[in-house]
Amino acid sequence: MSLLKDPYGRTIDYVRISVTDRCDFRCFYCMSENMTFLPKSDLLSLEELERVCLNFIKLGVKKIRLTGGEPLVRKGIMKLLENLSINLKTGTLEELTLTTNGSQLAKYAKDLSSCGIKRINVSLDTLDAKKFQDITRWGKLEQVLYGIDTALDAGIKVKINTVALKGINDDEFATLINWCGTKDMDITFIETMPLGEIDKDRVDNYLPLSMIRKQLREEFNLVETDYTTGGPARYMKIEGTKQRIGFITPLTHNFCESCNRVRLTCTGILYMCLGQEDSIDLRKPLRESESDGPLTEAIYQGIARKPKGHDFIIDRRSTNHSIKRHMSTTGG
Ligand code: GTP
Ligand code: 5AD
Ligand code: SF4
Repeated sequence: MSLLKDPYGRTIDYVRISVTDRCDFRCFYCMSENMTFLPKSDLLSLEELERVCLNFIKLGVKKIRLTGGEPLVRKGIMKLLENLSINLKTGTLEELTLTTNGSQLAKYAKDLSSCGIKRINVSLDTLDAKKFQDITRWGKLEQVLYGIDTALDAGIKVKINTVALKGINDDEFATLINWCGTKDMDITFIETMPLGEIDKDRVDNYLPLSMIRKQLREEFNLVETDYTTGGPARYMKIEGTKQRIGFITPLTHNFCESCNRVRLTCTGILYMCLGQEDSIDLRKPLRESESDGPLTEAIYQGIARKPKGHDFIIDRRSTNHSIKRHMSTTGG
């Protein structure tokens, strides 16, 4: 049972760790083309990341998700996963997973599976090679599709994350759902969130998911489910199939009351909410003492400050990025 309880009675048993702010793509809704990344010397070492994870596990955290940027571009990341996977074997950790853009999956899928990773989330917004390149700027669709197939062949369950973008992929939702159906993958649609400065105005591509649901209802027989990962997605099912379709709608529906997670950046800053600025530094207590006391104390202090919820807004009057840091800093 997790020892981490926040002031609103929520149990925190899930930590998302952004192991790098770097990425080999430049999705236009996530990053600007010329990003300045953190100097490598600012990053927590892999040993430090492992020590923070072990402390969270000691406090009862049951699920760890590595994110980024792109987690698989961090050098030595497989070693960290391998070490953490020992906790899966002993049962102190229930799930170790990652969210990836898929570019490196062909290379790593087998090793991920050997580390006990059973499910991963892959970001994919389109099945059209030209559009894929326009969205990601630097990505190659073919490489990601091959990576997904390699992961499936290695026995890993894949969930696809699709950011809904008005005027870009809004004619493809049914195609994406059908394609996922052929590969036994669930899919989740995500509303764009106002995180970090980008080169465009996010309002131009903002699409409320209520509109997508309406559009999809014309093609599919969607039924509500009470399935949950403890996460923000509300899942529906296509009647008569096992395929789930999730909707993450931070801007039109607030799901914060059941939030079970906190997030750590690659420099050791703990954010208690994706959509708030408050944070607590874990790097200092981590480096200041070989004993874990100060680190544990800082984690407790952070959890005690977890806010009730986010206050994202996307409209013409508010700034285009209501939170200054990019998704790649906090890891989604
Ligand atoms: P689980 O963590 O297993 O529930 O999966 P997930 O779908 O949340 O994980 P994933 O990394 O695929 O996240 C998909 C997207 O959900 C993230 O990039 C965020 O956009 C969004 N998301 C995840 N957690 C939160 C949250 O606590 N608040 C908000 N606003 N969005 C979140
Ligand atoms: N709003 C919504 N989703 C975003 N992602 C990255 N930036 C944003 C944003 N500003 C998505 C990615 C990936 C997940 C981790 O977050 O596409 O699926
Ligand atoms: Fe990279 Fe993911 Fe951001 Fe795209 S959305 S640039 S893949 S971190």
